[in-house]
Amino acid sequence: MKIGIPIEIQAGEQRVAATPETVRKFVAQGHQVLVQAGAGVRASQTDAAYEAAGARIGTAAEALGADLVLKVRAPDIVELAQMRPGAALVGMLNPFDVQNQARMAAAGITAFALEAAPRTTRAQSMDVLSSQANIAGYKAVLVAAHHYQRFMPMLMTAAGTVKAARVLILGAGVAGLQAIATAKRLGAVIEASDVRPAVKEQIESLGAKFLDVPFLTDEEREIAQGVGGYARPMPPDWMKRQAELVHQRAIQADIVITTALIPGRKAPVLLQEATVAQMKPGSVVVDLAAAQGGNCPLTVADEVVNHNGVIIIGHTNLASMVAADASALYARNVLDFLKLILDKDGKLVVNQEDDIVAACLMTGRDEMALAS
Ligand code: NAI
Repeated sequence: MKIGIPIEIQAGEQRVAATPETVRKFVAQGHQVLVQAGAGVRASQTDAAYEAAGARIGTAAEALGADLVLKVRAPDIVELAQMRPGAALVGMLNPFDVQNQARMAAAGITAFALEAAPRTTRAQSMDVLSSQANIAGYKAVLVAAHHYQRFMPMLMTAAGTVKAARVLILGAGVAGLQAIATAKRLGAVIEASDVRPAVKEQIESLGAKFLDVPFLTDEEREIAQGVGGYARPMPPDWMKRQAELVHQRAIQADIVITTALIPGRKAPVLLQEATVAQMKPGSVVVDLAAAQGGNCPLTVADEVVNHNGVIIIGHTNLASMVAADASALYARNVLDFLKLILDKDGKLVVNQEDDIVAACLMTGRDEMALAS
C-alpha cells in the first residue's frame, strides 16, 4: 500500500498526520510512505527525519495521489481533486459536515473520520478527540496565563503578598479536566462545573471545587447522564439556574475557561454577555467552544477581543499550537486505527462488523480491498 502524508493547508493548522516514529512502523509493515516535502516542519519534524524513517519525500500531488492518504483535517476541493477514486482517507474529517462527506463520496474516496469513534475502552488508543482535547485544555491555561496581567500562584514577597488567581472552568470533559490539572500546577484556586454529575469526583480529585447545580426533576437528572459519554442539551430551567450560579462565580473569577460541547450542535451558552459586563477588568476568558459558536456570545472565532477590559480568546485550534506533541499523539491514534482497516498483507479491508470501523466510515460503505 502506498501511504501519502500531505501538508495540511487549512489556515493555522500546524499538525501532521504521521511522524517519523509512525512512518518507521508503516515501512516495517511493508508499506511505501510518501511524505510531502515540509509536511512536518511546523510540528518540528524535518524531511530528513522522515527519510531516515524510510519515507520518500515528494510533492503534494504524489502524497494526495496515494492509495491511503493520512490527514489531520478534511481535504478541501483542491486537495480532493488530486486524490484518486478508490483511495482511502483517514483524518479528523468532521462527521457532521454533510457537504464535505458528499464531496468525498462523489470523488470515490473511502473516508474514515476518527472523531466518530465510540468512547469505548477498545477505541481509547485511537481517540483523537481525547488526545487533542487534552492538549487544548493544557494550552488554554497557558494562553490565559499569557494574557493575564497578574501571577497565577499566591506569592509572599518582601514587597507584599500576591493573591492566587481564581480560575473557573465550565465543562469538565477531557479538555476541562486537563485545564484544571494545569491551572492547579500553576498555583491557581479552581472551581469547575459540568452537567454530568459523574465528573464531580474527577474535579475534586484534581483539587478543584465542584460547582453543583442540583437537579430538581427526574427529567433533568436523566438528561444530565448524557448519551455515549457525551452531554445532551439540558432543559431551559436547569440552564437558567446554572447561568445564575456561573454569573456569581464568574464575576469573582480572574480566568474563565469554557469547554462545553454537545456533539453535532451549537455549543451551549454558559457565560452570558451580562456576566462578562460585570467581570473584573483584566480578567481573561478562553472559549474552547469558539469553533462551535462559543460558550460566550462575545467570543469571536480565532480572535482575541477586549470587551471593556475583559480579554476574550477564541482560538479554534489550540492543539495545533502545541503542534509537535499534538502530531505525535494524533499520529499514534492513526497508527492504531489503521490496524483495524489494514490486513496482514497491507490491504484495505473494511469490516463493518467492527463497531469502531463502522462508526468512523463516512463514505464508501461497501466492503472492499485495495491492491497494496
Ligand atoms: P465534550 O468535548 O463533548 O464536552 C466537554 C464537556 O462539556 C463535557 O464534559 C460535557 O458534559 C460538558 N457540557 C456540555 N454541556 C454543558 C453544560 N450545559 N454545562 C456544563 N458542562 C457542559 O466532552 P469530552 O471531553 O469529549 O468527553 C466526553 C465524555 O467522554 C466524558 O465523559 C469522558 O470522560 C468520556 N471519555 C471516555 C473515553 C473512553 O471511555 N474511552 C475516552 C475519552 C472520553
